[in-house]
Amino acid sequence: MHVPHLLQQRFMDALSGLTDQPEQYASMIRATSDPKHGDYQANCAMPLAKKSGEGKSPREIASELVAKLQLDDFCDPPEIAGPGFINLKLKDSFLKNSLANMLGDGRCGVDKVETEKSIVIDFSSPNVAKPMHVGHIRSTVIGDALARTLRFLGYPVVTDNHLGDWGTQFGIIIYGYKHFGDPQVVEADPVTELAKLYRVVNQLVEYRKAIASLAKLASMIEKAREFLTQTQGEEANAEDKQRKKARKAVATAERRLAGAEAVLASAQAKIAAVEKDPELGPKAKEHATIHTDVLEETAKLHRNDDENIALWNRFLPHCKDEINRIYSRLDIHFDHTLGESFYHPMLANVITELEELDLAADSNGALCVFLPEFDAPMIVRKQDGAYLYATTDLATLQYRLVEFNPSEILYVVDTRQSEHFDKLFAIADHFGLQNVKLVHVNFGTVLGEDGRPMKTRSGTLIGLESLLDDAVARAKQVVCNTERLSAFDPPMNSDEQEKIAEAVGIGAIKFADLSHHRTSDYRFNLDKMVALEGNTSAYVQYSYARMQKILQNANMDEAGVVAMIQEHGMQFTHPAERSLVLRLTKFEEALVAVHKDYAPNQLADYLLETAKAYSRFNENCHVLKAETESIRATRLAIVTQCKQILEKGLGLLGIDVVPRM
Ligand code: ARG
Repeated sequence: MHVPHLLQQRFMDALSGLTDQPEQYASMIRATSDPKHGDYQANCAMPLAKKSGEGKSPREIASELVAKLQLDDFCDPPEIAGPGFINLKLKDSFLKNSLANMLGDGRCGVDKVETEKSIVIDFSSPNVAKPMHVGHIRSTVIGDALARTLRFLGYPVVTDNHLGDWGTQFGIIIYGYKHFGDPQVVEADPVTELAKLYRVVNQLVEYRKAIASLAKLASMIEKAREFLTQTQGEEANAEDKQRKKARKAVATAERRLAGAEAVLASAQAKIAAVEKDPELGPKAKEHATIHTDVLEETAKLHRNDDENIALWNRFLPHCKDEINRIYSRLDIHFDHTLGESFYHPMLANVITELEELDLAADSNGALCVFLPEFDAPMIVRKQDGAYLYATTDLATLQYRLVEFNPSEILYVVDTRQSEHFDKLFAIADHFGLQNVKLVHVNFGTVLGEDGRPMKTRSGTLIGLESLLDDAVARAKQVVCNTERLSAFDPPMNSDEQEKIAEAVGIGAIKFADLSHHRTSDYRFNLDKMVALEGNTSAYVQYSYARMQKILQNANMDEAGVVAMIQEHGMQFTHPAERSLVLRLTKFEEALVAVHKDYAPNQLADYLLETAKAYSRFNENCHVLKAETESIRATRLAIVTQCKQILEKGLGLLGIDVVPRM
């Protein structure tokens, strides 16, 4: 049930004589924030009056519309307010019926979309061979929430983890294994050992790159200094009028210099860290060409070199084990895990097609697709014959179109890859792939307390697993401390405590991410994230547990409640009841809004608002001590349905509930 859609249909009929664009005007229906103005408000009379040019006032147009509107089966008579707003209030009988219908239907009143065409969601997609870190949270959690929500709405959803299983990181571990690996140690504990080899080689590569960057950085700083001196001179000589502008230029120059010096300092720190490390120092000297040698190992892998292919086949399953452990803890599953390696045999064909379509051209030995809308081309084959990330993505796109019959393909990937996807989608258009909607579902960065991308003190990215452990430990302190535990009867055993801590801790990480609009950056603050009060999943989970407790005390299950409302009917006696039921009817609206903007925060917000509306209801409306059977039945129905929606809604965000906490 989607009330605004229902209203829009009725408005379409009423608008038909007034405009030839009824759809556009019918879409101007919003939920009201103040119940004084009803539940929904239509704002179309004002723009219609402007457009019509017949000199009618918006209020006149509004009354014409109201006269034609057929809403009496579910709304009170519409009211015209202010300059011409049409205020719409749902009938109480409609809300009660909706509640009764939701209770029985198992879908919380949400209609099912009927469609054959799938929605493909490409998410998580980490580059394996290195441990998952904090940067992987967002794609994983947002993609999973979208998958669950769209699937529940009825779309055939295909989830695909486009693993980076074929890139430089394998060159790195292959190099590491050949030069520093001990076969027996790797055999005994491959996951830890490969991660260690990755870290060592990567650090040595970064060391070489840092050394190579020194000269360039020095000249950057030199230039920044010159620029600063110049702007300072200009400021000193500026006329009064120009002074402000000149001062701004000095500030910019200062910032530029500080930025360049910071980059230099970080490069120097990287170099010093390696040189003074007793293990890394000597290795760095010995492996002076490691930065190019690892690339050569990757290139050999791509050329099907026997030894490297064998190592890759040996290492890949362990890399997958490593990420699968995290997925299973996060309760995240994929229909397909077709990594980059899967597409390798198809790449030559992509190139041939691009050439046949005259889309690709040679540029200094590299094959490029030049796109009129972009300055730089998309390179699809390098001078040395190597294919690129983009080439694989073109092959992936072709494969998905044939295999999955999609109407939409969503790429849940960091905003920093926007240019890549803009180009990819532009080529797709030329490739004759116009019939599918391609969306880069981009997202911002997870920041630390200091407002910068979240890192450990030593500057490395924080491992995802340790983050989950921390959240669970913190959740345990918050929810299962001695004081809280003393209130539970029967007492909670340690098993139950573990379960609660896991649900609250993991839920906190997911919810904190999902409750921000995906394109915003957000600050990672565990204390705030696991709190029982505030905009947290713990707050919603706790509301759920309170509802569970009421129903348990009433000794009522869903069937009992349904029987009770059939026998005694329903009755609203407090505004908090009506406004909570109104919220419950808006579940589908929230889910459709998630799809519209690929924004799970619409659902997170909805759940928070619903939990808050429940809290107002709970303060004002006693369930067990209700005055009459009909009031009691109504309130039990509200609690039962609210509980189901919180459980379903959290579930669609990938978050568990617990029966008590
Ligand atoms: N592996 C890539 C990375 O870590 C993300 C892949 C996203 N999906 C895609 N089809 N390009 O940056």
